[in-house]
Amino acid sequence: MSKKIIVTIDGPAGAGKSTTAKAVAEKTGLPYLDTGALYRAVAWKLDKEGVAPEDGDKIAETLKDFKIEVAGGKVTADGEDVTQAIRTARVDSIVSAYAARPEVRDALAGFQRAQAVNGLVADGRDMGTVIFPDAELKIFLTASAEERARRRCAEREAKGESADYDEILKQVIERDRYDMTREIAPLRPAQGCVILDSTDMSAAEVVDAIASLAKEIEAQENR
Ligand code: CDP
Repeated sequence: MSKKIIVTIDGPAGAGKSTTAKAVAEKTGLPYLDTGALYRAVAWKLDKEGVAPEDGDKIAETLKDFKIEVAGGKVTADGEDVTQAIRTARVDSIVSAYAARPEVRDALAGFQRAQAVNGLVADGRDMGTVIFPDAELKIFLTASAEERARRRCAEREAKGESADYDEILKQVIERDRYDMTREIAPLRPAQGCVILDSTDMSAAEVVDAIASLAKEIEAQENR
């Protein structure tokens, strides 16, 4: 059987990681894992249960029996479909505080690694630095904060939701600061990664660039 590679795509909020990673997975035939969705589902659950981000013991206890499933673009938490519920402005504003907790990161680390048995395209913040440091291809996907806020706005509007550009820009910058300065698994380019600034690139150009690198590396690995 041919060797399946791991492709990691990390980067700041709204850089287009999920859309890109999904398309790269389709082009390469590798499975796809949106790890942001896992952190969002956990934040959604802890928020719903009224567990504060500071309460490490309560977080660990709540997550002990918490079951997340991700399949075919659907996210299920304890059997409930939360695909839409984890994409709200409320979750946007609380997720990073929970994601900074070791109890949250520990609870998700094993789950993420277990998804990689048949190769994987995974996007998040620490895929290349912490979860899959030996991945065959590591990408750091970024874009200017303004461009990322514009994309997030367009995404919301396409869903028929209202979107305030200034508010979204402020939130994007704040979330980046939080993710980059946290003690555990801070957002930063992984060793040996390819840095891709997509500010002036179309979505298709970004996908093509990463997919051809992935195919080249997979061919090399199987030579
Ligand atoms: O799509 P967007 O960039 O808005 O965010 P996301 O990928 O859905 O991730 C939401 C939040 O989860 C991030 O702001 C991080 O705080 C956290 N996260 C993380 O800490 N580690 C990951 N591997 C993925 C997400």
